Amino acid sequence: MVFDQLNSLYKDEINSQLLSVYNIGPESLVDPINYVLSGKGKRLRPILTLFTAESFGGTKSESMPAALAVEILHNFTLVHDDIMDEDHIRHGKPTVHHKWDVGTAILSGDAMLSLALKMIQKSPQFNEKLMTSFIDGLQAVCEGQAFDKEFETRNTVSLAEYIQMIDLKTGYLIGLSAELGAISVGANDEDVITVRDYGRLIGRAFQIQDDLLEIYSDSNNMGKNLESDLLLGKKTYLMIKAKESVPSELNLALELAQENFTAGLEKVRTLLIDSGIRQKTEEKIKSTIKEADLLLNELSIETDKLSFFSNLITNRGN
Ligand code: IPE
Ligand code: IPE
Ligand code: MG
Ligand code: MG
Repeated sequence: MVFDQLNSLYKDEINSQLLSVYNIGPESLVDPINYVLSGKGKRLRPILTLFTAESFGGTKSESMPAALAVEILHNFTLVHDDIMDEDHIRHGKPTVHHKWDVGTAILSGDAMLSLALKMIQKSPQFNEKLMTSFIDGLQAVCEGQAFDKEFETRNTVSLAEYIQMIDLKTGYLIGLSAELGAISVGANDEDVITVRDYGRLIGRAFQIQDDLLEIYSDSNNMGKNLESDLLLGKKTYLMIKAKESVPSELNLALELAQENFTAGLEKVRTLLIDSGIRQKTEEKIKSTIKEADLLLNELSIETDKLSFFSNLITNRGN
């Protein structure tokens, strides 16, 4: 399929450009930053930026700096997220704080943020709107991450609170990826908002799916360790639903996971299937992607590249 080829072509170009972002500086920054930027990320966000720009009649080169900026920002949030979630594997390799130390990971993340900000300024049509949206997206991730941590120690979290949290930590950044693509090629304000909201909904579906994969996939496939959601008491869509309908069984399974992770995980998996929660979660993911796709009808542009992107998310395997 032609968009598949375009996707892998763009991914290769993004990967090679990321490698030339930061090569001169202190070794203790250059090494970990290049280690992160050469990681095997899916590059979904920058692809969305490029596809959005092209959907609005712009070119890849006009939107490439924004695309790279958003990917650098995303990778910065992952470096800090892995400290916060105490995760030791990302993209099949040790996380920065594990391979080096927490200080190195904090500083590498900070420096990556500055690289992302510099990158966005390289946009051929750089303007205030690009920067404002970028900063708003950054703040949203921080707020989402704060709620994510706060919820760990809270006994109950409502579904509405969960949705607000994942919109902030994940949805807004994917929304931003589409938004920057549109702004960088001069799309009108109304279309910018529509495509941003499309991205936000896709991001919401993406995070719910990530929560599901964290339970049902395996670490090799995902390239990251999958223990932290259960061990830290993360409030995911599945956990909130289970707490509502099968609270005592869930508690037993979670307690078991603390002592014997594999056995506890198996209990959680079975419980979620037997209670119909796994299926409900899959339906929620599908309906959210559908909701996003409906927004595309409001645009007066060719949206087949964006529909392709929705399918990419729907069929995501890692
Ligand atoms: C990981 O995002 C963080 C979440 C929002 C779940 P991705 O799954 O897109 O990570 P990479 O970029 O492919 O590593
Ligand atoms: C995803 O966080 C959002 C950000 C990194 C900002 P998660 O903690 O849910 O994602 P993974 O599972 O570590 O990729
Ligand atoms: Mg996290
Ligand atoms: Mg994490």
